[in-house]
Amino acid sequence: MTRIPIDVINDIKRRARIEDVIGSFIPIIKQGVNYVAYCPFHDDHDPSLHISVDKQIFKCFSCPAENKTAGDVFSFVMKYKKVSYPEAVKIVAEMIGYKYEFANSYEEKFTETVYHKIISDTVIFCQNELNSASGLTYKEYLNKRNLNKELLRKYAIGYNPPNDKVYYFLHKKGYQDSDLIEANVVRLTENGIRDTFYDRIMIPIFDENSHPIAFTARSIDKNNPSKYINSADTPIYHKSDVLYNLNFAKQSIKENKIAILAEGPMDVIAFDRAGINNAVCSLGTNLTDKQLSLLKKYTKSILLAFDGDAAGQAAILRAGKMAEKIGLEIRVINNKTGLDPDEVVNKYGAGELKAMLEHSLTWIDFILDYYKRQYDLNNYSAKKEYVAKVCAEINKCDDELDKDVYLRMLSEITGFSYDILRREKVGAPTIVKVNNRFEHAASQSLNGLEIAQRTILKQLMLSAANVGVFQDEMVELPDEKYNRYITLIINSYFQNPQFKISSLAQDMDDQQYGMLLGILADKSIVDSANADLLRDCCIKLKIASLQKEKEKINQEIIKLNDGHLKAKLSLNYINIQKEIKKLKEKLSTVTGGKNSD
Ligand code: UTP
Ligand code: MN
Repeated sequence: MTRIPIDVINDIKRRARIEDVIGSFIPIIKQGVNYVAYCPFHDDHDPSLHISVDKQIFKCFSCPAENKTAGDVFSFVMKYKKVSYPEAVKIVAEMIGYKYEFANSYEEKFTETVYHKIISDTVIFCQNELNSASGLTYKEYLNKRNLNKELLRKYAIGYNPPNDKVYYFLHKKGYQDSDLIEANVVRLTENGIRDTFYDRIMIPIFDENSHPIAFTARSIDKNNPSKYINSADTPIYHKSDVLYNLNFAKQSIKENKIAILAEGPMDVIAFDRAGINNAVCSLGTNLTDKQLSLLKKYTKSILLAFDGDAAGQAAILRAGKMAEKIGLEIRVINNKTGLDPDEVVNKYGAGELKAMLEHSLTWIDFILDYYKRQYDLNNYSAKKEYVAKVCAEINKCDDELDKDVYLRMLSEITGFSYDILRREKVGAPTIVKVNNRFEHAASQSLNGLEIAQRTILKQLMLSAANVGVFQDEMVELPDEKYNRYITLIINSYFQNPQFKISSLAQDMDDQQYGMLLGILADKSIVDSANADLLRDCCIKLKIASLQKEKEKINQEIIKLNDGHLKAKLSLNYINIQKEIKKLKEKLSTVTGGKNSD
């Protein structure tokens, strides 16, 4: 299911009444303003599931903690109906009659256009041609390149003969000339309508769901100045949005948690020949951000496997920098042969290609090596330039340990001292870089309540596991804006446990998002996930709210003359005091809370 917008989730949550939703699944019993019920998640003999109407949350006081029987309306439905978070949101929406078009799956519904039909018919026609007498030379060429029958069939490779045979075939099938031109299988020339790919091997390009949408076509004539020509953009093909072979590779990309990016289709097929199925490539264009984002749907890591020649290495530098920007982890094939992957398999065998992947380089390894070949390290000023280039990359590293290792490597390569490189080029280790705009949040002096709320927020941002700890405590933060952030964060974890805080930027304005980043970067707030600390902060908020209530009662008692009423309120006062004492006993030692009031 696709991501449901946070505003829609909040809206559904606001409109749904948890007591009605739970009450539609199990009997609930009114108790004061709230409700209780026999807990459906354990063998309950007393109604121990409590529903707070005011806070719109539920909690079972008898379930073992690991049952996590607490949370909001969506948590209940997830647990009771054993469904995912988006499914629970959908169920609640249906129950309250909330109108929203929920997408059913990642796959958009496929609508076949006339252009799809044209491309499909062309694929079949060209496959037949390759197997006919006219295609013999081409078939021999492909076989010589180690494309056997199975591979030719899998990739639906064909042959577009000369003399506009594709056009006559499609015309006879009844397609309009204008549609054929739009689909770019033919084009209008001074000499009339001609086949676009005449006398070429036809390699179909498929969309992510294996519908053919375009072609890349190779000439086998060594004198032909364009070795490959590719379909122009058409109504169904936008070349900068498509990766060749993603349809076949996506499953293997997910399983292997990495996508291989090659330069051309023959390299992708060479990986396949070597038993490696997670390779894709862009066609006839430089790699685009859109293409990298496509891969991000399936993996966090890419392995750049462009050609071993100088142009290939320069393309790796460019692609790597783009991938770095959109947050992909990068590795680089360890190919020092100057050959492309297809040539490597042919010349040295599949084992060699696999070894090149197994010994792939990290991004900094590649940078150290790439620039080393650009600068003459025997020349002092060239060496300084080399250091500047490499340090610029090292500075982008988030991990202090990696940074340190790379600096030591750089020191070894250049002979410059590690300390000087560190001081002059990289600077002392820092843990989180803070944008100046957000620094004010860190420097303000804050009261205990504010610190507790910010600590809770930070703990939730640091670890998905803390969501359960927080929900168990059933506490509402006094500050409404913090409550909203918490809902956002918890909803995001439910939708994707690996979600990144940066993805919240789209759900909040700059100032709000800046506030969150400020809290994350605030060194005065504990930086590591700590469930005890989180629990303590929740308890402290409860204590603070009880203390406020206690003070209010105290003021009322002072104002009252009626002795009877005074006594009644005093009882309340004492009960609250007892509760506060109990809560204080629950505080762990991490915050030193026992001593504080
Ligand atoms: P290469 O020249 O490295 O070709 O161009 P290749 O991939 O090794 O192809 P084979 O093995 O000779 O068949 C790399 C890629 O650049 C694009 C193609 O996508 C090609 O795979 N290209 C190349 C073109 O679009 N047009 C061209 O004329 C040449
Ligand atoms: Mn090649």
